[in-house]
Amino acid sequence: MLPGYISGQHSVFNKIVSLYTYFCCEQLINNYKYILVKKIAVILSVLFVACSPKTFKFTEADATRGANKFPGLTVEELKRGKAVHDEKCTVCHGAKRPSDYTEEQWRKIVPAMATKAQESGTKPITGTDQDMILKYVITMGAK
Ligand code: HEC
Repeated sequence: MLPGYISGQHSVFNKIVSLYTYFCCEQLINNYKYILVKKIAVILSVLFVACSPKTFKFTEADATRGANKFPGLTVEELKRGKAVHDEKCTVCHGAKRPSDYTEEQWRKIVPAMATKAQESGTKPITGTDQDMILKYVITMGAK
């Protein structure tokens, strides 16, 4: 039988050892938690940036360039065109890039897609919608 101060549950020695272990582990766990949280945050932010759709910054220069084809075009109209596009043109497939098609192609594609939408009974793409979408894709595609 060992003396109480070594084996006993309530010995001061044991208490000190367990307290010491507790604090050390706590600190270790906290460190790991901190590193883990940091890692997760980095991974999430990388994913967020990588996965977020390419954002367009509409500038006055865009509006001026677009105004050659769409007289009086404003930045506000470009923003609205993109909003309508993002709402109505991503129902069946992902967003297509404006620069992947020429003006001539867009002028055929958009009405064709409106017909597809009508036939399939998804969100209707009205004439006004098409005009707004065309202003956006043609102006931003010709950057
Ligand atoms: C009802 C579903 C539907 C909607 C809504 C829709 N599309 Fe499509 N889109 C398709 C399908 C299906 C294709 C596959 C290719 C095809 O059939 O021409 C396609 C293909 C395309 C292509 C590739 C065309 C090519 O020749 O490579 C573009 C660009 C496109 N869509 C743009 C749009 C735009 C812009 C809108 C909004 C005005 C839109 N889509 C809305 C169904 C849709």
